[in-house]
Amino acid sequence: AEVMNRVPVIWIELQDCAGNSEAFIRSDGPKVDEIILEIISLEFQETLMAAAGHQAEAQLHDAVETFKGKYLLFVEGSIPTAMNGFYGTIGPSGETFEEHLTRLSKDAAAIVAVGSCATFGGVPAAAPNPTGAKGVMDIVKGKPIINIPACPANPANMVGVILHYVLTGQIPELDSLLRPKFAFGYRIHDNCERRAHFDAGEFVEEWGDEGAKNNFCLYKMGCKGPMTFNNCSIVRYNEGVNWPIGVGRGCIGCSEPDFWDKYAYERPM
Ligand code: SF4
Ligand code: F3S
Repeated sequence: AEVMNRVPVIWIELQDCAGNSEAFIRSDGPKVDEIILEIISLEFQETLMAAAGHQAEAQLHDAVETFKGKYLLFVEGSIPTAMNGFYGTIGPSGETFEEHLTRLSKDAAAIVAVGSCATFGGVPAAAPNPTGAKGVMDIVKGKPIINIPACPANPANMVGVILHYVLTGQIPELDSLLRPKFAFGYRIHDNCERRAHFDAGEFVEEWGDEGAKNNFCLYKMGCKGPMTFNNCSIVRYNEGVNWPIGVGRGCIGCSEPDFWDKYAYERPM
């Protein structure tokens, strides 16, 4: 396969908190400066770019024209569909987020939905979902879509998808939820550092108890590691420093569809 040089990337933010942009710039290998200066050509990214207003709009327009059919479109945030999409509009034309996404998807080589909002609707889609929030795959049809859920998506997985694409010209192998298998083929519980305590029946029973001090298993405190597929138990976050279970508060299944309604903070009966 042809080895590509600096793949063009357009990154848009819809109904989001910019947490995935924040996570992305904390990539530890390669670091963000190497990614931006040597691996991708970051054509548009609202949080990182200097341009604003009409200048930013012009840059987006130029990037789409120049790299038609070649750019990766990164999407962060959900798409509000209630009230004709008026919960989210952008630019001088007052285009809705849905129109914006549909227009920019048309000329993309592939779409990378980052974070649980862009993949499955995430927190904005939690009941009662006032904005009618949806994920990219519910809106965009007929284009390759790669889902990298989690809140935020792990930079290792975002960068992994980019490097795979740069080196092979292909998107990585995906599972039925369009997630890269290299990242989401693992169950948290199967690679958890507290698993021996689970197997031994040693649980944290109350916050701050002796079990908590001894890093016992968090299942009884509501840990959703047994139902969650993600590789954070292996790669961790923040340069491998730590991750939710490592800091002792359990997994809330942040990378699973509908996690907020189904999983977050509920303790087993
Ligand atoms: Fe499983 Fe969670 Fe216990 Fe780890 S802390 S062993 S993921 S239940
Ligand atoms: Fe999310 Fe659970 Fe990992 S909350 S970051 S999937 S440990």
